[in-house]
Formats: sequence, C-alpha cells, structure tokens
Amino acid sequence: MRIRIRRQENSVSKPYWQEFSYEKKNDQTIAGMLEELNYLDDLKDISGNSAPRIHWEQSCLQGMCGGCAMVINNTPALACETFLRDIKKDTVVLEPLRKFPVVTDLIVDRSVIDTYLKKEGAFIEEYKGAAFSEYYHMYQAGKCLKCGLCLEVCPNFSCGSSFYGAAFANDCYLIAMRSGTRDTALTRAYKEHFEKGCSKSLSCMDICPMKIPTLASISKMNRVR
Ligand code: SF4
Ligand code: FES
Repeated sequence: MRIRIRRQENSVSKPYWQEFSYEKKNDQTIAGMLEELNYLDDLKDISGNSAPRIHWEQSCLQGMCGGCAMVINNTPALACETFLRDIKKDTVVLEPLRKFPVVTDLIVDRSVIDTYLKKEGAFIEEYKGAAFSEYYHMYQAGKCLKCGLCLEVCPNFSCGSSFYGAAFANDCYLIAMRSGTRDTALTRAYKEHFEKGCSKSLSCMDICPMKIPTLASISKMNRVR
C-alpha cells in the first residue's frame, strides 16, 4: 500500500508530501507501520530516494497517553488504535493535527491545553470529598488523555481563542466535584471559556477515544452554580 505523509522539517519550514510503499498487514496499526518504516536502516521513499526518519509522537502504544493523535485519511484518530484492516483504501494519508502548530512532521504543540488549565487555576487546592452519586461520571471524565482530538473537530475551537473546549470542561467538572467548589473563579472561567462558546455540536463526544460523555459534564456543571 501507499503511505502518503505530510512532512515538515521544523515549525517554520515549508510542508511537503512524501510517499512510501509498505506491504499491508491487517493486524498492524498505523503506529506499528510507522515504527517499521523508521526501523529500516535506510528509509527510502516510493521513488527509491533516501528519506529522513518520520517524526511522530508516542509513548504507550495502547490508547492510554494520547500522544499519537494525528489525521488519518482525513479523520483525526489515535495512530496506535487505528488498524490497517479498517482502512479500505490503497493509500493511507497521514497529516499532523490541523488546529495546533506543527513542531516537526506529525508532531504538534498541544501545550495550549495545559496552558488553559494553569491559567485558570484548574487544580485542586483542597480535596473536600465528592458525592458518591458523582463517582461514576468522575471516573469517566477522569479518563481524558489531553490528546486534543476533541479540539481538532470542534467547530468553535482554534488555538489561542478564548474558547477552551471539551477537555477544559471535563476538568472543570472534576475539580468542582472534588473540591466542593461553588461559584468561584474556576466556575466563572468555565462559563466564560466554555459555556459561552459551546454550540453543542458534540463532535467532541463522537471523536473522543475514551468515549467521555462531555454532555453529562456540561449538564452537571449547570447545577454547580
Ligand atoms: S476529552 Fe477525549 S478527545 Fe478530548 S482531549 Fe480528552 S480524551 Fe482526547
Ligand atoms: S501511543 Fe499512546 S495513545 Fe497512541
């Protein structure tokens, strides 16, 4: 099969496309395929020219860290969770997430997610205990990988905008429940940087690899104030 990758040497260089050929294995993932290509002593593109190693981000290779998020055949997804058997086309097109600045090749800078949380003081100062009835949803919301896929598909999010997106909303819910927060700076930040801008497209829930029910976090936050 043909692997077409949008490459970029660094954050200021011009992007370009490079193609590789790869013998398809149904049980291989996109992540495994990229590893195989990079293991080659002399990586060559489809025309036989030497090519630089493909830069991409990963840690767990089991859908637990969110590092390998990228755009695969026009759909944002985790590379380690996407199997070649599910790709019906002869060509796989890989691109970096489009809503974040490119660092190199398929690696993007998602630090904005943490920056928002730090800026709004989204951390627990004192654990005051949460109601037992919240435990199940807290567990669900706590599974967020900060992979950025929800932001990638959100029609209201752009990097640097005042709308912070689903990952922020879920963390606000978690902190409000754990710290017994009522009408504080954090809930005001939630209102300003999420509630005001969310148009309830819910594409975030559809794409989320952890299937976090963000809509439930939103409805629960409505009760916090
Ligand atoms: S809410 Fe889901 S899609 Fe968004 S950052 Fe967390 S794990 Fe990723
Ligand atoms: S490498 Fe960790 S989620 Fe894919």
